[in-house]
Order: sequence, then C-alpha cells, then structure tokens
Amino acid sequence: MSNDPILQTENLSKRFKKRFAVSDLNLEIFRGDIFGFLGPNGAGKSTTIRMLLSLVRPTTGDVRLFGCSVLRERSEALGKVGGIVEKPDFYLYLSAMRNLEIVGALHGGIPRSRIFEVLELVGLKERAFDAVKTYSHGMKQRLGIAQALLNDPELVILDEPTSGLDPQGTKEIRELIRHLARDRSKTVFLSSHLLSEIELVANRMAIINRGNLVVQGRVTELLESGEQRVIIRGKPLARIRTLLASRKSMVQSFRWDGNEFHATVEFRHIPALVRLLVRNGVKIEAVTPRRSLEDYFLSITESSSII
Ligand SMILES: Nc1ncnc2c1ncn2[C@@H]1O[C@H](COP(=O)(O)OP(=O)(O)OP(=O)(O)O)[C@@H](O)[C@H]1O
Ligand SMILES: [Mg+2]
Repeated sequence: MSNDPILQTENLSKRFKKRFAVSDLNLEIFRGDIFGFLGPNGAGKSTTIRMLLSLVRPTTGDVRLFGCSVLRERSEALGKVGGIVEKPDFYLYLSAMRNLEIVGALHGGIPRSRIFEVLELVGLKERAFDAVKTYSHGMKQRLGIAQALLNDPELVILDEPTSGLDPQGTKEIRELIRHLARDRSKTVFLSSHLLSEIELVANRMAIINRGNLVVQGRVTELLESGEQRVIIRGKPLARIRTLLASRKSMVQSFRWDGNEFHATVEFRHIPALVRLLVRNGVKIEAVTPRRSLEDYFLSITESSSII
C-alpha cells in the first residue's frame, strides 16, 4: 500500500474580502488516520472543510484527494469522499429514511438496503421511519454521519460531529468514529474546538488558529513534546513560594495566577518536589500536570473567544 497522503492541501487559502479565513494551509492525512482538526471558534475549520468538499473555491492553492485535484478533477477527487459541514440540514417533517433517499438521489440513487445499513451503523435503524423533528440533537448528529456514509466513502469528513452533545452523546460518536476506522477501514477527518476530544480519538492532528497552521503531527508526540508544567494548589502560599524559588535545579520557573502556582518542572522531578513541599509542612490540595500544548491551546482559545 502506498504511503502517499490520501488527502493533501497545498498552500490552501481562502480570503473573504480583505480577511484571510484560511491561509497557506498544508495538511496531510494518510490512509487509516483518524485526523483531528483542532481550532477555536472562527479559526477556519469549516471554511477548510468546505474547500475539501469543493463547496467553496479556494482563493489560492489546491486540495488533492486520492491524488486528484479538487479544482481540476472534481468528480474523481470526491468519488471516495463523504462529509458534512456544520449542522446537517434535514427536512424535519420527513423521516430519516426519506431524507436519506432524497440525498441519495443526488448520488444517482442509493438502494433502500444501503440506507438501512447506514442507519443501523449509526444506531438509528429503529427510528428510520420517524420524522426527524422527533429526533434528539444527538440523533440528528448521527443522522448527519449516516448521510456522510451513504456512498460508502473511504474518507469521511465530519465538521464538529460532537458539537452541543452531552458526555454520553459525545462518547457514542467517538465510539462510532473508532468503529468506522477500525472495523470499516475508513479514514476519518474530524474537526473540533476541544483538545480533550481530539486527544481521545485521533492518532494525528493539526491545530489551526486564525487561518494559520500552528502544528501538525502525531497526537502522542505533540502532547508529550515541549516543557512540562504542573499546577500546585496548597497552603501556606508564602512557604510554597519560598520553596519553589529555592530549588532552581528542579523548578525552572513558576508563577502565581491568583489561585494556584504554575511551575515548569520536568516530570521526573515531580515526586521529589512533592516530597520537599510535604516535608516542609505544606498542605497540598492538588498537583496537576499540565502539558504545554494544552496550555497553549487554552491560551489561543481564550484570546479568540472575544473576536
Ligand atoms: N461566507 C463568508 N463570508 C465572509 N466571511 C466568512 C464566511 N465564512 C466564514 N467567514 C469568516 O472566516 C473565518 C473562519 O470561519 P469558519 O467558519 O471557517 O471558522 P470555524 O473554525 O469553523 O469556527 P467555528 O468553531 O465557530 O465553527 C471567520 O472569521 C468567519 O467570519
Ligand atoms: Mg465551524
């Protein structure tokens, strides 16, 4: 099997008036990946996905799907791809079956047996003939995934499939995505604004912020890279401050954020640091490791939430 990416964006950019929603984006997704596309609100995720699915024309750059250019060989490129962008639209008074038949007609007609199959896959077979207006939010999201799976694509592209779901609904979607990748040999590209969600399901990921690629790679490697931080909660504060300041070999730097201390400490030093604090009479309430990517992502999420 070739090791070429099955999805590749080449300096992909989209400008709306003067503002670049996506700028010079180079992504690589390989067969079998569950690829997490992470970014805060307004980062450019949906715009990118629209370009991947050829729903929006790039300002510059191109998308290659299975080696074919979306711009020049649209139907070949999209032949093995299924996807949904943002909230899928359905006719609420029609059943799931009827809705999928209508979408299927756009694919040149999909047999009823296949529609049952995808509804079963997403756990909606029993509700196939109920009007979509009677569906819960989670069921509608799953129906969106069913729609993306109709033409049995090799690559499934899902835009925030767990958005607005409760923890149970989120878990069900996560399991469905894993099932698609593991048992159905699908490659899955999904976007999210939650690192915790991507971390649980994806093997590779990219972070996008204000249209720019920040980082791309294996999830485990990205999360383990960089300096490590620990958050320390305890009392008395003055003693913790003195102790942290006294061990430069262990604690590279630290700051107080008004609630807790954030210290940069190599993981191997954490037990010794905890011993030091306890031996000196500090009452520790919590010591929480915090990875740099997590901190970084939180900081861009906070700064983007106001625009
Ligand atoms: N049709 C459009 N016309 C003008 N600007 C647009 C259009 N679509 C998107 N944008 C802008 O492009 C930027 C990226 O939007 P996009 O919807 O791709 O972000 P997103 O990462 O999907 O955000 P969210 O997490 O909120 O869904 C935003 O600044 C948005 O206002
Ligand atoms: Mg979006």
